[in-house]
Amino acid sequence: MCGILGAVIHDGDNDLKSILLPGLRAVEYRGYDSAGIAVMNGDGISVSKKAGKLSILEDSLGESPITGSVGLGHTRWATHGAPSDENAHPHWDYQHRIILVHNGIIENYSEIKDELLSKGVTFKSETDTEVAVNLIATYYDGDLPTAVRLAGKRFRGSFSMCVMAADQPRLMVGIRNEVPLLVGHGDNATYLASDITAFLAYTRDVTYLEDGEMAVLTDNGTHYYDLATGHEIEKHVERVEWNIEQAQKGGYDTFMMKEIHEQPNVVRHLLERHLPSANEPVQMPQLDELTKENDFRLVSLLGCGTAFHACKVGKYVLEGLAKIPCRVMYAHEALYHQAPLSSATVTVAVSQSGETADTLGAVKVQKAAGSKIISICNVVGSSLTRLSDQTLYTLAGPEISVASTKAFTCQLTMIYLVALWIAEKFGKEDPAELRRLKEELLAVPDKMSAILQSEKQIEHLARVYRQVRHFYYLGRGISYPVAMEGALKLKEISYVHAEGYAGGEMKHGAIAMIEPGFPSCILAPKSPLLEKMVANMEEILSRNGEVMVITNAPDRFSKYDVHVFPFPDCPQVFSPLLMSLPLQIFAFYSAKLRGRDIDQPRNLAKSVVVE
Ligand code: G6P
Repeated sequence: MCGILGAVIHDGDNDLKSILLPGLRAVEYRGYDSAGIAVMNGDGISVSKKAGKLSILEDSLGESPITGSVGLGHTRWATHGAPSDENAHPHWDYQHRIILVHNGIIENYSEIKDELLSKGVTFKSETDTEVAVNLIATYYDGDLPTAVRLAGKRFRGSFSMCVMAADQPRLMVGIRNEVPLLVGHGDNATYLASDITAFLAYTRDVTYLEDGEMAVLTDNGTHYYDLATGHEIEKHVERVEWNIEQAQKGGYDTFMMKEIHEQPNVVRHLLERHLPSANEPVQMPQLDELTKENDFRLVSLLGCGTAFHACKVGKYVLEGLAKIPCRVMYAHEALYHQAPLSSATVTVAVSQSGETADTLGAVKVQKAAGSKIISICNVVGSSLTRLSDQTLYTLAGPEISVASTKAFTCQLTMIYLVALWIAEKFGKEDPAELRRLKEELLAVPDKMSAILQSEKQIEHLARVYRQVRHFYYLGRGISYPVAMEGALKLKEISYVHAEGYAGGEMKHGAIAMIEPGFPSCILAPKSPLLEKMVANMEEILSRNGEVMVITNAPDRFSKYDVHVFPFPDCPQVFSPLLMSLPLQIFAFYSAKLRGRDIDQPRNLAKSVVVE
């Protein structure tokens, strides 16, 4: 969960600081507890690294350029060793011959460290990375690719690395295992990075490294090798659709608010791709192979964090609309649980990044058990998409804020489209009802825009609750996972303790917390369960708790002393798409009023590539 970037300039020295620092800024969402760069020029390699956010490194480097031909940089989310200047990357070997940056974990580092200690190697940091660079150095005799390859074969765990040698002024080597590493092909430079956004300002032409592959970047082009055999391999260059504007704040103060406001457009765009009009069938060519109802005897939904909540909503949607039994598990739980699976199980893995280690691990297990893998993913070419039989892209564009917003609503939209496709293909729903549902789904983006017009009203609610330290979110049926997502958003960025509960569960324990002033958010879309939510609310009010209601039946709440945020009318099944927006905005302003760093909340990283 670190961001790495390397650059080899082909037309002489350049100000590498002006390439590395903005590139690292773009991948800082992956980790931000320390940062560093190393630049090679005629005088050797100069290294600067600092604990804390990238801005601390930037300030320490000042205005002057750092010129060189080859350079690498890193922004860290600590695994081995606390965040400190010493533990920050890049790391030298003890004789300052090799330097590298690393993302991931070398699981067998302590065994390698013992071996190196016995050979007289000394260490300055507590990191597995310093062990890795010293192992490479023991194999180094002037041939960097071979040294990296021999060491790389011995590493166990997940890793991607960019490596330079002090006596090789125009060479960089990258390796990948279970953690992303991409090569970017610019006009006068080649890049290595953990995410395309790091070099999107220069190129959209990308080669994705697979597990067990090595890239060697030289002035004469880039060559690729298999780590195990050392044989050269052919790789393709792909052009990605994203552009640099999408990866910038576009006038907003934070990525999160920008991404919240992008939702009507990205959801509309996704719908247009698969459902041009309510009179046409849902277009899902990726699923054409699944022609028999039996192909879907069970759907196993997997994800983590926000993506897991999309899976939980997905169970209600797929069981309700497509009438298919679904199982939902956190990917990290599914990974170690021997659930019965068969070729009639379709695993649907949901992930924004496509790089979450837990999700990749669980998918591998389910694939090995014979399950077909369909992923719902945002990042083209990510590891998950390469493990999957088919990928349904959410097309949300780069999501940079650690707290996921537009990726979530696009994941939900894709799940609705899949459910409608199944219902239509296998005749699970009356055609007139299907048409009505399609019309309603197509109307969602405009309703999202209407909610965004009421942002001030939600900001006001955040002010009302600016002092609270706890928050309950309650929902029933399809609103229950939305309550969980609302609580997660608040926790993630404001650090207010929040829990999402199924309304019916409240009386079985959680209600003990209610005392005068304890706040709860009631999700009350029009549905057969509306009165049950009113009952939940009354139980809270009778204990002098505070209540905020998100509802499309505001009249039902007019006689109560509660704060109501009304959202546009829609069928209950689509209400998660609309209720999510006020919850995201509420979390945003709750965090802002508390002075939190909204895009980069403490202890978190956007892409968790370690188990
Ligand atoms: C991390 C992030 C969450 C995200 C989860 C799953 O924990 O902080 O915001 O929901 O990973 O990420 P994915 O990329 O698989 O959707």
